[in-house]
Amino acid sequence: MAYDFDTIATNYDRMNRLMTLGLDRRWRKRAVRGLHGNVLDVACGTGDMVVSLAEQGCTVTGVDISEEMLAIAKRKAPQATYMLADAEQLPFEDSSFDAVTCAFGVRNFVHLEQGLSEMLRVLKPGGTMVILELATPDNILIKPFYNFYTKHLIPWLGSRIAGNRAAYTYLPESIVRFPKGEAFVQIMEKLGGRTTERKLFFGVCRSYKIVKKQRGRST
Ligand SMILES: C[S@@+](CC[C@H](N)C(=O)[O-])C[C@H]1O[C@@H](n2cnc3c(N)ncnc32)[C@H](O)[C@@H]1O
Repeated sequence: MAYDFDTIATNYDRMNRLMTLGLDRRWRKRAVRGLHGNVLDVACGTGDMVVSLAEQGCTVTGVDISEEMLAIAKRKAPQATYMLADAEQLPFEDSSFDAVTCAFGVRNFVHLEQGLSEMLRVLKPGGTMVILELATPDNILIKPFYNFYTKHLIPWLGSRIAGNRAAYTYLPESIVRFPKGEAFVQIMEKLGGRTTERKLFFGVCRSYKIVKKQRGRST
């Protein structure tokens, strides 16, 4: 079953700013640089990616399965169109969007490949998909700090600030379970996207740029 973000919606933005010391906003802005046209933001949550896309002139549609998260997005970025919809069954025609984005969302899909295939399906051939995800760092010097931070400090912050230790214990656990780097690149290539990975902040955040292959072409 999908994790229920309704329960943490109210404190979601505050926790993000605290946990990443504000870097999450910069990561989103950097990731969507260069995108234009009609963009679908999947798992849009409270709308921070929608804001970044709208700031550079994109026409944005945001979808999410959490009503509470969507309610905040609608207040924060009212210029976009929003729908309560599951990434694994998107209510759009094939090739509807110039670009598709998803920040910190795919890690929460129940059926990862189903969601990613749907995102590729609604993207125009040759269009770009941008996926931002959290990951464990590769550097062995950074790892002990990262482990302490995610296993102890984040759950503590979650209980103090959001009153929800369980949600912020789920977060680091879901990061460890999720395929990162080359493993994720391979999944996207198999599904039909030419994929490049960029590591941000020692690799604790990864930005994947995926170009949908044209039909009938192998490269
Ligand atoms: C960690 S939040 C990310 C929100 C936002 N994209 C951001 O940048 O802050 C994950 C979001 O994914 C949504 N989500 C999880 N599974 C989903 C699915 N199958 N379809 C649509 N949204 C989903 C959750 O409701 C939640 O709002």
